[in-house]
Amino acid sequence: MNKFTQLTEFTPKHQHRAYVNSAVRFHTPCTKEDRLAAAIKAGWNVFQFPSKFTVGDFLSDSGTTTPTIEQLAASLLGDEAYGTNWGYEQLLEQFEKTFGITLLGDDAEWEIFLFHQCRAAEHALFTQIGRGKKGLIIPSNGHFDTTHANIEMNGIEALDIVSVNDHFFLGNIDTTKLFRTLNTENVPLVYCTVTNNTMAGQPVSLENIADIRRWCDKFKKPFFLDACRFAENAWFIKENERQRSTIPEIVHEMFSLCDGFTISLKKDGLANMGGALCVKKGTVLFEEYPDILDNLRDHQICTEAHPTYGGMSGRDIMIVVEGLKTVVTQEYLDSRILQVRAFGDYLDELGIPVVKPFGGHAVYLDVDKFYEGTLMRREDFGGISLTALLLLNGPRLCELGAFAFGTYDPKTGKETFPPFNYVRIAIPRNKYEIEDLFYAADCIKNLHNKRDFIPRAVCTHGKEKTLRHFKARFELQYK
Ligand SMILES: Cc1ncc(COP(=O)(O)O)c(C=O)c1O
Repeated sequence: MNKFTQLTEFTPKHQHRAYVNSAVRFHTPCTKEDRLAAAIKAGWNVFQFPSKFTVGDFLSDSGTTTPTIEQLAASLLGDEAYGTNWGYEQLLEQFEKTFGITLLGDDAEWEIFLFHQCRAAEHALFTQIGRGKKGLIIPSNGHFDTTHANIEMNGIEALDIVSVNDHFFLGNIDTTKLFRTLNTENVPLVYCTVTNNTMAGQPVSLENIADIRRWCDKFKKPFFLDACRFAENAWFIKENERQRSTIPEIVHEMFSLCDGFTISLKKDGLANMGGALCVKKGTVLFEEYPDILDNLRDHQICTEAHPTYGGMSGRDIMIVVEGLKTVVTQEYLDSRILQVRAFGDYLDELGIPVVKPFGGHAVYLDVDKFYEGTLMRREDFGGISLTALLLLNGPRLCELGAFAFGTYDPKTGKETFPPFNYVRIAIPRNKYEIEDLFYAADCIKNLHNKRDFIPRAVCTHGKEKTLRHFKARFELQYK
């Protein structure tokens, strides 16, 4: 080593980002009174609070990515033609490169269906899978809520069987339960979400994916991935399972093991819009569903339009082409996931109860532990109060616990609560600097210090509704 390079060798305490800002947007000037008035008007519902008053919008990581200049430049080249826009071919080429599948040419092994979002792709798939059939069950390591709803809407049971055995890969499917389900139930296909959003963004190992493949082969069942955060999942595989492989190699291996996948391009497509369903031809899926490709195409044309844009504009398509190049680079993923980790570590140092290990896209607060030793009970919806009060400082978080996943029966007055009670802090990609995250952590710490004085949240509208967290209104009240 050269002596100058030797002099500069050290392990820095801070990680630099993989990018620099090329455009910024200043916050809308506002006072705490402006935010208070807006929060009351919104019924303290974070979804109805104006984004212009937020400082740190952590409601979702979906569709909130800041584009790169390459994406912005490519979007100007978007071709808005109704039929066979020129970006479509580039998209197929990029899908081939990123996922290691073949989509172009007469001997293409895969078929692609574009949609405006992943849930539209799920809707198309499960409409075909459920049509005219009864008693079907689709097992998964963790169905996302729209996946769950799209499955059940088509008369199929959605079953979650997450494993609790692995040290690093807490998103894995429980293969013993999978075997039992395949052995006893009528399963049209097996699903696996990478990373497992429902389980706090935890990753799934390559070994687990390969095990699912083996069980599916044994029982002659198709295997599909919910690939929304495929690149983040590959990063964890590299860290804990396959240090010597590159991210693109791991991604190719993941996708070589499945018969199809749905993907929200609003996550690891690094785009603000887009979804897709990809199906491998000639697999066991076609024994039970010989006409599925034609039927899916009809569904797509009727609901989303021409197959070469399917609900996306030509600009969106070009943004995805560029996004899929960036998302599998080591530099991007290091920046992304180590930022989430640094934020989680800081919250942990502050004594805030967080779910560990940290996943790829978010940090989750454990609401029950947050209020331990106070008078706050589950039925007081302390997660809602916390997210409501934080709005006054600027950060917008999302309760995914006792309220979002609980139910209320107005006839009996009975309430049910889920086994976990979390608040999610989802980190948008390429959007915030670590100071923004530390600011949010300091605001949470302030309320943690004052947790004995946080009021309960009383639901004044929508307690009995489905998907009630989007619709409800609250008042903050002392007992
Ligand atoms: C794991 C997972 N699957 C599916 C979806 C649905 O994607 P979209 O929002 O594009 O409909 C999401 C969205 O957050 C998700 O996280």
